[in-house]
Amino acid sequence: MIRSVVRGTGAALPRRIMKNADFEGMVETSDEWIAQRTGIRQRHIAGDDETTASLGEAAARAALANAGLTPADIDLIVLATSTPNNTFPATAVEIQNRLGMHHGFAFDMQAVCSGFVYGVTTADLYIRGGQAKRVLVIGSETFSRILDWSDRSTCVLFGDGAGAVILEAGEGTGTIADRGVLAASLRSDGTHKDKLFVDGGPSTTGTVGHLRMEGREVFKHAVGMITDVIEATFSQAGISADDLDWFVPHQANKRIIDASAKKLGIAEQKVVVTVDLHGNTSAASVPLALSVAVADGRIKKGDLVLLEAMGGGFTWGAVLVRW
Ligand code: UT7
Repeated sequence: MIRSVVRGTGAALPRRIMKNADFEGMVETSDEWIAQRTGIRQRHIAGDDETTASLGEAAARAALANAGLTPADIDLIVLATSTPNNTFPATAVEIQNRLGMHHGFAFDMQAVCSGFVYGVTTADLYIRGGQAKRVLVIGSETFSRILDWSDRSTCVLFGDGAGAVILEAGEGTGTIADRGVLAASLRSDGTHKDKLFVDGGPSTTGTVGHLRMEGREVFKHAVGMITDVIEATFSQAGISADDLDWFVPHQANKRIIDASAKKLGIAEQKVVVTVDLHGNTSAASVPLALSVAVADGRIKKGDLVLLEAMGGGFTWGAVLVRW
C-alpha cells in the first residue's frame, strides 16, 4: 500500500526576538506571570519585510534542502495559515510562485492552530489517492498582525514563524512498522466558535480584525479534547502511549502540554517543548517543534511520532507518523 513518508523538514523564524520583559512597559504584566502561566519566555515577531508568504517560502526552501529536492519535485503545496498575505489568492499560490514552481497546484487550509495537523492529513489523502507524489505541507503565521497589543490576556501569548515538511509516496506493507503517516483523527465543533476568534473579516466588517480569546474557557476544554482525539488515533493504529518515541504537541501553553501528556501516560522525556522559545505560533507551532527535534537529533528515522493540535473553531486533531 501507498504510505506518505516524511522526506524533509524545515523552519523559518523572523529576525526580531521579543522577550517577556519587553511587554512590561506596554501592558500590565510581568515576565514572571507569563512564564509561570504559559511557559513562554520569548517569541519572534515579523518585521515589515517579513510576511506569512516570505516565512513560508523560507521554511519550504529549508525543507527542500533538507530533503535534497527542488521545487520541480513537488506537485502540491498545502499551506496551513489563518494569517494569509491577502484575503485571496491563497498564500500557498504566492509561495508556489516565489519558489518558481509553475506546475502542480497549491491551496490554503484554515483550521487555525490545528491547520498543520489538518494539512498533513489532507496531504496524506492526496498521496494515497494517487493525486500527488510529493507534497510540501507548510504552517506559516504572522499572528502579531492580528493581535490587539493593548490586551494583555492575548498579546503576550502568540508569535510568528513557519515550519514545513515534505511528504513523499512510498511503499508500505500496511502494518504500523511502515514508515509514513499511519493514522489520523480530525475533529471540529462550531459551538465553541466565539471562544477564540478574530472580530473582523471580508464578509462581515470588511476589516481584518483582532484576535479575541476567552483563555480560561479554551483551557478548560483543551486537555479533554486533545486526549480524546489522541486515544482515537491510538485505537486506529492499535498502539498505546508506551509505543511512542516522541510526542510533538501544539505549543500554546506548557500547562496544557503537561496535563495532556500526564493524562495519556506519556513520559516527560518524550515530549518536545518549544513554547518557551516560540510562544504560540498557531499552525506553525507543530512543524516548528518538529524541525527543532529533527535538527537536534532527537527524532530519527524509524521513530514513532505523535502530532497533536487544538485551536479556534474549536478544531482539533492528531496524526501518528513513523519517521
Ligand atoms: O492555540 C489555541 C489554543 N489556545 C490556548 O490553548 C490558550 C488556552 N488558555 C490559556 O493558555 C490560559 O487560559 C491563559 C494563559 C490564556 C491564561 O491563564 P489562566 O491561568 O487561565 O489565567 P486567567 O485567564 O484565569 O487569568 C488569571 C488572572 C486574571 O486576573 P484576575 O481576574 O484573577 O484578577 C487575569 O486578568 O491573570 C490576569 N491576567 C494577566 N496578568 C498578568 C491575564 N493576562 C495577564 C497577563 N499578565 N498577561
